[in-house]
Amino acid sequence: MSYFLLFLSSTILVCRAAVCPCEKPELCQQIREERDFEVFVFDVGGKKWTSYNWSMVTTVAAFGKYDADLMCYAHSKGARVVLKGDVHVPYIVDQYNRTAWITEKVNLAKSQFMDGINIDIEQAVEEGSPEYHALTHLVNETTEAFHGAIPGSQVSFDVAWSPNNIDKRYYDYVTIAESCDLLFVMSYDEQSQITGNCIAMANAPLSQTLNGYDQFLSLKIDPKKLVMGVPWYGYDYPCLNFSQEGVCFIAEVPFRGAPCSDAAGTQKTYAWIMKQVNNSMSGRLWDDKQQAPYFNYKDQKGQIHQVWYDDPQSICPKAESVKSKGLRGIGMWNGNILDYSDEPVAKQQTAGMWNALIGCELGFT
Ligand SMILES: *[C@@H]1O[C@H](CO)[C@@H](O)[C@H](O)[C@H]1NC(C)=O
Ligand SMILES: *[C@@H]1O[C@H](CO)[C@@H](O)[C@H](O)[C@H]1NC(C)=O
Ligand SMILES: *[C@@H]1O[C@H](CO)[C@@H](O)[C@H](O)[C@H]1NC(C)=O
Ligand SMILES: *[C@@H]1O[C@H](CO)[C@@H](O)[C@H](O)[C@H]1NC(C)=O
Ligand SMILES: *[C@@H]1O[C@H](CO)[C@@H](O)[C@H](O)[C@H]1NC(C)=O
Repeated sequence: MSYFLLFLSSTILVCRAAVCPCEKPELCQQIREERDFEVFVFDVGGKKWTSYNWSMVTTVAAFGKYDADLMCYAHSKGARVVLKGDVHVPYIVDQYNRTAWITEKVNLAKSQFMDGINIDIEQAVEEGSPEYHALTHLVNETTEAFHGAIPGSQVSFDVAWSPNNIDKRYYDYVTIAESCDLLFVMSYDEQSQITGNCIAMANAPLSQTLNGYDQFLSLKIDPKKLVMGVPWYGYDYPCLNFSQEGVCFIAEVPFRGAPCSDAAGTQKTYAWIMKQVNNSMSGRLWDDKQQAPYFNYKDQKGQIHQVWYDDPQSICPKAESVKSKGLRGIGMWNGNILDYSDEPVAKQQTAGMWNALIGCELGFT
């Protein structure tokens, strides 16, 4: 009896996987066309995607639970939906395991009518190690497998803000870039390894961010392989002490060899930040050197916090440099964390963040 049920339920699963869940069967067809400018959105689950600006979105990396409605809707807008790919790198040193992992991902993508995969491996890897080579092979073989099985599919790989082995990620950036469709450059968490004063600083200072792209480009990586990732979140740092000039000293939390890190703070969504800034001690301040907004507030226990974030004013010059450097496009971590409510102020702030992705000409609010 239980065997029968097991058989029955697995049959139903297999059948269900093969049936297109969309209203129109053609919406299950994978997207094939390339668009000139990528707007690459990470979605972490839930239904916020219904409020995205779909006139811009070209790819959604589905990092939440699989949502067939999202797939159908994205396809109706000509946008790709790609899987999340994460694996413990030592595991895929073994060719057999690597192939098994890739086969599983291709089959999963096909059964869910998806358009590719975003490989998000943020692990430390030693230069020249078996893991270093295995990771490069993984990207090559994943791309070959996806392109072969799903014509027009997209394989992307997430990299830190600079190729200079940030967070001990010694990867073969040049070959990895050649081996996939695009690199999503995570131009945030740029204070993950602080070696100078242990103080609160911007998540993604403008000049540091742009310097990262200059480093990728100086390796002769094709600019059309680079998508700029901007943060839609910020960091809230409790200050150990607070200098007269407004410098916030933070706890020393080491990270991958650095004595101090943004791990001393907590990540906050733009929606939270916009609520908090008006109740802060300082109101919105602007740091000219880092080209980023911040504010100070006092918590219920009386401790001062400093919050660094990005808003349309800090994002739009980055978006302008995407155009001037001829990059493939822009994206964000993550699409869900704006306030998509009907409140007029929130609506305006949310539209401002989306519009900042295509540059400064729409102005910022
Ligand atoms: C390969 O996969 C097998 C089965 O999951 C596992 O036992 C083995 O440790 C893996 N190899 C490596 C190098 O991790
Ligand atoms: C994968 O590597 C092989 C052998 O070096 C090469 O011929 C092929 O073009 C590579 N494929 C991709 C997608 O980079
Ligand atoms: C704040 O703390 C840091 C680190 O402990 C110290 O170097 C600095 O002098 C202190 N500044 C003030 C204004 O107390
Ligand atoms: C916060 O203050 C700004 C500037 O005074 C104002 O435009 C905005 O509406 C306020 N936001 C909220 C949520 O009240
Ligand atoms: C969506 O983006 C387009 C630009 O591609 C812009 O013209 C439009 O106003 C945006 N929609 C909203 C609701 O902000």
